[in-house]
Amino acid sequence: MKNGILFSPFKINGFNLKNRIGVAPMTRMSSPGDSIPRQDVLDFLVRRAQNGAAIIYTEAIVTDYESAQGYPKQARLVTQRQIDAWKPVVKAIQQEGAIAIMQMFHCGRMAWPEVNPAGRVIAPSAVTLKQDNPMTGSPYPLPDAMTQFDIDHVIKGFVETARGAVEAGFDGIEIHGAHGYLINSFLSSYSNRRTDSYGGSVGNRFRFAHEVIAAVRKVVPRERLLLFRISNWGVADMKVSLFESKAEWQQTIKLLSDEPIDAISVSTYGYSDKAFGTDQTMAQLTREVTDLPIMICGKISDRASADDALKDADIVLSAKSILLNPNWVEDIRAGKDLPLYESKAAGVAYTDTPLP
Ligand SMILES: Cc1cc2nc3c(=O)[nH]c(=O)nc-3n(C[C@H](O)[C@H](O)[C@H](O)COP(=O)(O)O)c2cc1C
Repeated sequence: MKNGILFSPFKINGFNLKNRIGVAPMTRMSSPGDSIPRQDVLDFLVRRAQNGAAIIYTEAIVTDYESAQGYPKQARLVTQRQIDAWKPVVKAIQQEGAIAIMQMFHCGRMAWPEVNPAGRVIAPSAVTLKQDNPMTGSPYPLPDAMTQFDIDHVIKGFVETARGAVEAGFDGIEIHGAHGYLINSFLSSYSNRRTDSYGGSVGNRFRFAHEVIAAVRKVVPRERLLLFRISNWGVADMKVSLFESKAEWQQTIKLLSDEPIDAISVSTYGYSDKAFGTDQTMAQLTREVTDLPIMICGKISDRASADDALKDADIVLSAKSILLNPNWVEDIRAGKDLPLYESKAAGVAYTDTPLP
């Protein structure tokens, strides 16, 4: 598919993207002490813009100083110093003709109490993960079921972080509702056993996401983007289908489509995998029920897979390929033979070794 749409422009809200390629959000655990990423990690993002990606995501930025953090040395965006550190990075990305998006998350039951000053783990329900935390080698702690106070407080963390991103000049903000973290764990009956208005029906389980989106949208001007990432898989208990059926997934996507967001980012383990026992992919199931732009991610490694993924989505995001190959966008354009990297190869992202 040489003449596919990969290198054609795409309009999203007021932004004219030069192509359909984005750098997926990637946590780098490179922000000791002050929650500001190392300079080489910030430079890495600018280099991906120089190579031609139209969208550059930050790593997932944690939304508070109490219970949101899941990994050591994560970044935050709530102090003036943190905001000032991101400003030149955002500007440099924009000067390369790309847009800069800040992704933010609360780790929920995957948080790690030792790295959270309040030492607390919170989740919709007091239900723990089945597997151990690979970073500590110990079981994940039993979370506290969130009270209404906790819910209101956590939403303020999302809002404050979004305000930080707006102040830093980001073109858009993404709410991380995927991968088993807090928002995703409200959406899924695997982790949400609440009997109040935040649990039970799909609509009730969606309520927390709705409240986060509504609160964040108030501080994200209409001319900037507000995006939402969602997945059917979590980074712990990875094999579990977090939505029970195609119907439940599509009902959730429909609810999302009624929200004041500009696109839905669907994170998959493999973009071409068939979902929920159907012969359809996650992108196809999503496209069936929404008119919003769709971003798709998961094992998009070369020109053929990128073109193929765009049959059912508007934008492709790459993580490992773009992480490990600074020339990925140009190599794709040239139609080079490119490898599909294993997760293990991405481990370098978390080391002190600067990536080219
Ligand atoms: C080093 C690394 C860090 C990641 N951190 C995040 C993150 O902060 N937020 C997020 O939504 N996904 C994160 N992911 C998942 C990727 O965005 C992507 O969904 C996944 O790697 C599949 O895409 P790929 O096959 O192109 O690698 C991370 C992946 C890698 C390899």
